[in-house]
Amino acid sequence: MDHPLLHRLKGAADAGIQAFLDRWPADEADGLYAPIHYLMALGGKRLRPVLGLAAAEAEGADAGAAMPAALAVELFHNFTLMHDDIMDAAPLRRGQATVHEKWGENTAILSGDAMYTLAHVALSELQPEALVRVLPLFNTTALEVCIGQQSDMAFEQRSDVNVAEYLEMIRLKTSVLLAAALAMGAAVAGASERRVSAWYRVGEQLGLAFQMQDDLLDAFGDAATGKQVGGDILADKKTFLRLHTDAVTAAVKEWDGPAADPEAKVAAVQQAMRAAGAEEAARERMALYVESARRELDGLALAPEWHAAFDSIADHIVTRKA
Ligand code: IPE
Ligand code: IPE
Ligand code: MG
Ligand code: MG
Ligand code: MG
Repeated sequence: MDHPLLHRLKGAADAGIQAFLDRWPADEADGLYAPIHYLMALGGKRLRPVLGLAAAEAEGADAGAAMPAALAVELFHNFTLMHDDIMDAAPLRRGQATVHEKWGENTAILSGDAMYTLAHVALSELQPEALVRVLPLFNTTALEVCIGQQSDMAFEQRSDVNVAEYLEMIRLKTSVLLAAALAMGAAVAGASERRVSAWYRVGEQLGLAFQMQDDLLDAFGDAATGKQVGGDILADKKTFLRLHTDAVTAAVKEWDGPAADPEAKVAAVQQAMRAAGAEEAARERMALYVESARRELDGLALAPEWHAAFDSIADHIVTRKA
């Protein structure tokens, strides 16, 4: 996200998040708000609030007007991460211990619940005419993310998942939130329903590429991800890399289930994916999604600097290391 407009919006998002969370102070011993401050202070790319603020500005609004929506989306995102890390038995997030590792699962569940509520507190601070447009989309999106997460977990136990099912699963667990971030930003700016829908489609396409890159980093990334590399393989996640060819499916099958030797399992599955050219196939598909997002953006006919900014977001999504 190497564009001055995006740097400015990331700064605005960081400051907005800080000011919002300062309203719920917590000392180290606090078992409800301290984990929220901890996770939010570990950073993250702030991609979703940047998308929301960018769409709002590109549609002619002030970033400030869209800030409550951007905060709501980032709080919701971090809430899903706190619970996702329990579901995925993940030890690391943003290079540090996950909340459930540090405080226990019950705390991670409850602090996550509080974050979900804080997202609605943020939303409720939108102007009324913006709120009536944004709230139904936010709630629909939140339910879709739950459906996607449910599929993600259910797929761990299934050996007959196909690529179409995988794509629908990642659209739901990940894309719709990027889509909603953009659409909410545009809606706050007073854009037409037609334009809001186009922004939504931009996010849907970018989101598919974004989650495929996340899956690539989980399989083949390094410490820069700040997460446990190979976690998806150990959990038998049905990623595109795993579903890419029958050869991968066949080779990987004998490793399904709890691994006596986790390192051997990760190495063997990585090897099967590599031999089948799964990474290259994934990258080809990601390029198509980015292309399709760019076409939707072209249709929006934004000021040139915004096209440049969104190009830089798209590049970042498929080349990022974290
Ligand atoms: C991680 O999201 C969860 C996914 C949907 C893949 P990000 O990669 O945006 O995480 P942060 O917020 O930058 O840490
Ligand atoms: C997470 O997908 C999607 C949501 C949190 C809704 P992942 O499980 O792949 O995300 P990471 O890799 O843990 O960040
Ligand atoms: Mg997950
Ligand atoms: Mg996870
Ligand atoms: Mg992942």
